[in-house]
Amino acid sequence: MARLLVTGGAGFIGANFVHYWVEQYPDDRVVVLDSLTYAGNLASLEGLTDCEQFRFVKESIVEKDVVATLLREEQIDTVVHFAAESHVDRSISGPADFIDTNIVGTHNLLQAARSAWLDSDDAPASHRFHHVSTDEVYGSLGPTDPGFSESTPYAPNSPYSASKAASDHLVRAYHHTYGLQVTTSNCSNNYGPYQFPEKLIPLMIVNALEGKLLPVYGDGSNIRDWLYVEDHVRAIDLVLKKGRVGETYNIGGNEEWANIDIVNRICAAIDTAFVDDGELATRFPDAPAAKGGQTASLITSVKDRPGHDWRYAIDPSRAQNELGFRPQHDFAGGLASTIDWMLNNEAWWRAVMDGSYRDWVTKHYASS
Ligand code: NAD
Ligand code: DAU
Repeated sequence: MARLLVTGGAGFIGANFVHYWVEQYPDDRVVVLDSLTYAGNLASLEGLTDCEQFRFVKESIVEKDVVATLLREEQIDTVVHFAAESHVDRSISGPADFIDTNIVGTHNLLQAARSAWLDSDDAPASHRFHHVSTDEVYGSLGPTDPGFSESTPYAPNSPYSASKAASDHLVRAYHHTYGLQVTTSNCSNNYGPYQFPEKLIPLMIVNALEGKLLPVYGDGSNIRDWLYVEDHVRAIDLVLKKGRVGETYNIGGNEEWANIDIVNRICAAIDTAFVDDGELATRFPDAPAAKGGQTASLITSVKDRPGHDWRYAIDPSRAQNELGFRPQHDFAGGLASTIDWMLNNEAWWRAVMDGSYRDWVTKHYASS
């Protein structure tokens, strides 16, 4: 039986991880530590709060004492560290929170883990610190460059990716210097249930349903590699079970798509959904599809993101060969499931979104 501390477990990937873990491993203890920023929501942990194996603690990883106490009190032997400021655009307009949470917060966790696991008489027999990171630490690729491998030099371009790169280096250093048993995964773009509608896919779905403009940065040619969140969660499980301590694993979906193609696919899928289900026009009367129009009419080119990375891609060899990881969802299936989930969980996305985010978007990306 493992005793997990999941930081950021009320966020998008963390919540998916917690749901998966509780179902797969009902004997394990799962403690979520999350400060519930705008991106974290208890609604994403529905059904778990009454579950005996589960505990939720609303605190920040920046609070040193909280983390240290929790590790000891709960006799944690595994940390899975998701907590972060995760949105690139927000890191451009306000980097300070990214430094606090992603760098200082990660360092607090490492210090607390070192103290509880390496410098204590009642340390667990074995331990693991798994750090969830991003492919953005490697910078941007040209059209024919090979995908990022674990030995690609770091070249972060945004305050977000620079803060994640710093945290990756700290995790590595705590292994090499102190012998902390760490692993790191660097994953490509996730999508799926419980993703806050500021990221490309859920934002486009919500705006399309509400008849709002679909803001495509620049010419829409930027490419990302997309992975359905459930596959990322399985990959982390595999790293915890089979990963070599001290190693990093690049996780990807082998699904490279240009932003504009994704937005067009979402538009077409929503048009079809309205044809198939007459009730949608009543629920979302402002959608162009409710009035016989085309969702794609909402697509608008806006000012580009400063320093916008052009392409990310993953060389999945290590995760494939060492962990046996292969995504189970292709992009077409994953996107269809995500759109269905958003249509069936309107109460969730309305609850997590508030006016301040809409105002923020309007201020930062004027139509070009
Ligand atoms: P998210 O923004 O949806 O969730 C982050 C969670 O962390 C939220 O619940 C938030 O409340 C919590 N949090 C933020 N600051 C905190 C603090 N100081 N103390 C405690 N909790 C805090 O992020 P996500 O998309 O789920 O990403 C999770 C992790 O995965 C991040 O580390 C991110 O860098 C990484 N990642 C994300 C993606 C992606 O496509 N979303 C891809 C690769 C890696
Ligand atoms: O690659 C992994 C990373 O993916 C994670 O580490 C980050 O936490 C996660 O936010 C994501 O970063 P991106 O910047 O790639 O994701 P985002 O959804 O913000 O944007 C995806 C692409 O779509 C990017 O090229 C910018 C563009 N975009 C985004 C938004 C929100 C638009 O054109 N319009 C938009 O409104």
